[in-house]
Amino acid sequence: MTTVSAPGKVYLFGEHAVVYGEPAVPCAIEKRATVTAELRDDNHVRVEAADLSLNGFVVEYAGSTANRPDVDVPQPLLDAAMGYIDAAVQQAREAADAPDAGFDITVESEIPLGAGLGSSAAVVVAGIDAATRALGEPLARRELADRAYKAEYEVQDGQASRADTFCSTMGGAVRVAGDDCTTLSTPTLPFVVGFDGGAGDTGKLVAGVRELREQYSFAADTVEAIGDIVSMGESLLVDADPEVPPSDELVSELGDLMNINHGLLSALGVSSRSLDTMVWAAREAGAEGAKLTGAGGGGCIVALDQSDETETSLRYTPGCKDTFRAELADEGARVEVDVGSEEA
Ligand code: MEV
Repeated sequence: MTTVSAPGKVYLFGEHAVVYGEPAVPCAIEKRATVTAELRDDNHVRVEAADLSLNGFVVEYAGSTANRPDVDVPQPLLDAAMGYIDAAVQQAREAADAPDAGFDITVESEIPLGAGLGSSAAVVVAGIDAATRALGEPLARRELADRAYKAEYEVQDGQASRADTFCSTMGGAVRVAGDDCTTLSTPTLPFVVGFDGGAGDTGKLVAGVRELREQYSFAADTVEAIGDIVSMGESLLVDADPEVPPSDELVSELGDLMNINHGLLSALGVSSRSLDTMVWAAREAGAEGAKLTGAGGGGCIVALDQSDETETSLRYTPGCKDTFRAELADEGARVEVDVGSEEA
């Protein structure tokens, strides 16, 4: 039996534009998905999800998730969660050359589904790592990130970048541009998250930006402008000493760039009234900058504020269901328990 956890993330800069090869800087945060994989002596997969923002469900199936029995959970949420878990199992079977391996899988997650905090990437990364370890074939981190990307890519019909899965695998702050993925040493930034309790449909939102880009040249220019913002932010980060707290000036400059990034994402049609309301509440409370994080449409914003003012203000903002300070997660995928058995 093997248990692995992997972190969620916030985007300091660059979501959506990263789908078109522009750079992005996501940062892993201490909100984790934890997956336990135990080998079975048949080829079935049994999935128990204690908390995926669902009421909890248990499913057992053989072959693919398409053959699973009906369960009492809203179908779109179940499809989304099961799709990612199934893709992770397929990647693990392929990596370990064990096409008939069966697993009992348990998923627990502190990361709300579809809210821009990288829940699916964390489940896929932790799932592949746990399942390959249970098979006695642990993967090197880069291969884990690569397989997790392939799993997301497949479930999201080719509309995924490497950013979420690379960040969740490696932890810390990372830079992703196309296939070029690197880790960054950054000072610890004072992230505050606001969550509207909702979720966006990543596939639809990514497709919407694609259509806009095809239809209007302003949208292609906007995607490029986001890339420019990311490059500016990245050079501020790499010039800073990672060992000391960030200067007020650095936080302020990064915040300005986050504000511009949010405006550009709004122009691409991926913000929402609740996200804009939380962004403005954070700015008015004194945050140095605030933007939506992830695919948008609903879910979370991220703000930079060294003080408690943004959290306090968001707590009283209509439409904000939860707010918390998000610590940078230095560790990516992390083995929590490994009894190292290849035998069922
Ligand atoms: C979703 O968390 C981030 C997007 O840029 C899609 C992707 O990078 O795969 C919208």
